[in-house]
Amino acid sequence: MNIKRVGVIGCGVMGSGIAQAIASAGFEVTVLEAEQRFLDRGWANMKQSLGRLEKKDKLKDPIETILGRLKGTTSPPDLADCDLIIEAIVENVAEKRKVLAALDTIVKKDAIFSSNTSSLSITELMTATKRHDRFIGFHFSNPAPVLPMVEVVRTIVTAPEVYETAVEFAKALGKVPVRTSDKPAFVLNRLLIPYMLDAIRAYEEGVGSIADIDTTMKHGGGHPMGPFTLMDLVGLDTMYNISIVMFDEFKERRFASPPLLKRMVMAGWLGRKTGRGFYDYSTPGEAEPMDAALKGFEPIAKAAAR
Ligand code: CAA
Ligand code: NAD
Repeated sequence: MNIKRVGVIGCGVMGSGIAQAIASAGFEVTVLEAEQRFLDRGWANMKQSLGRLEKKDKLKDPIETILGRLKGTTSPPDLADCDLIIEAIVENVAEKRKVLAALDTIVKKDAIFSSNTSSLSITELMTATKRHDRFIGFHFSNPAPVLPMVEVVRTIVTAPEVYETAVEFAKALGKVPVRTSDKPAFVLNRLLIPYMLDAIRAYEEGVGSIADIDTTMKHGGGHPMGPFTLMDLVGLDTMYNISIVMFDEFKERRFASPPLLKRMVMAGWLGRKTGRGFYDYSTPGEAEPMDAALKGFEPIAKAAAR
């Protein structure tokens, strides 16, 4: 395996977690963002996460050493000599293709390109570049520094040695690679997304409150967190974008966005990353369910004030 320097595109929920996981495993990482303020936000997330892992004695190296392997940039040419590119920007095919096409002309020819997309076709992203046989999917699970599974996604034209290098790289990160191919939403999201969308539909039908549904799945279903807590962690814009892609592929209701999800996204309630989604996170350490506002019984300001 000849991967030493990795370029991560995007420093949001996933980009920051992926960059942290890779630097923690000893690799040099350059993170490309659209604006400096998003790099600053991502670095703050990484420092907080590294602090949690250090307290649990789960870091191989001191935090400063890990941070020393990470560089942030807003200039694409800084990624020119990367051996592997992992794209983790917004779940939008046009945006992803634009950034991948631009980097294809800048990054050295033998580098492997990959996308962390949740649901978009790796083949469609691949065709934005000229390195079709050197393009794969690397689908990390959120939170990337903690959860071990990574889906390694091949297309019908991926070169076997490129695919094996990607699997080896995932192992070198201490991750558990799952070998899969370019089918809509791969394995994890094929099963997880309809479950989460169903939770919203159940909620809209009055099956239970946000907290009731979360409690049921956490304490009755043995899930580490309930579906609403999980959607707030994932990001509701990402959930919505994935639902559009999956519904377009399958034309089945279970993959379609429930009306409430779309309205929350339009209102800018994107979950933890904006401080409010199915829960309000304005009080540190507390998550207040937003039933009153989301059911439309009370104006938002009044419901949020409680
Ligand atoms: N960074 C570092 N450490 C973290 C962390 C982070 N971001 N988040 C949690 N942890 C650590 C804690 O330090 C703690 O460590 P120990 O196990 O050693 O005690 C552990 O994780 C548990 O933490 P908490 O007790 O605080 O529990 P939590 O509920 O806050 O978080 C969790 C733990 C790992 C997030 C767990 O709840 C979980 O696995 N939830 C489900 C996550 C999931 O399903 N992810 C998939 C999302 S879908 C996806 O990723 C695909 C897509 O394309 C949308
Ligand atoms: P996010 O909204 O948290 O972050 C996206 C980041 O990309 C933002 O910081 C944005 O500024 C940056 N960005 C946008 N355009 C850019 C460009 N042209 N160049 C550089 N940076 C740019 O989103 P996220 O949750 O991190 O998701 C990123 C990708 O990972 C998506 O494809 C998503 O589907 C996938 N994914 C998400 C999760 C999850 O749970 N959130 C899990 C696995 C995979």
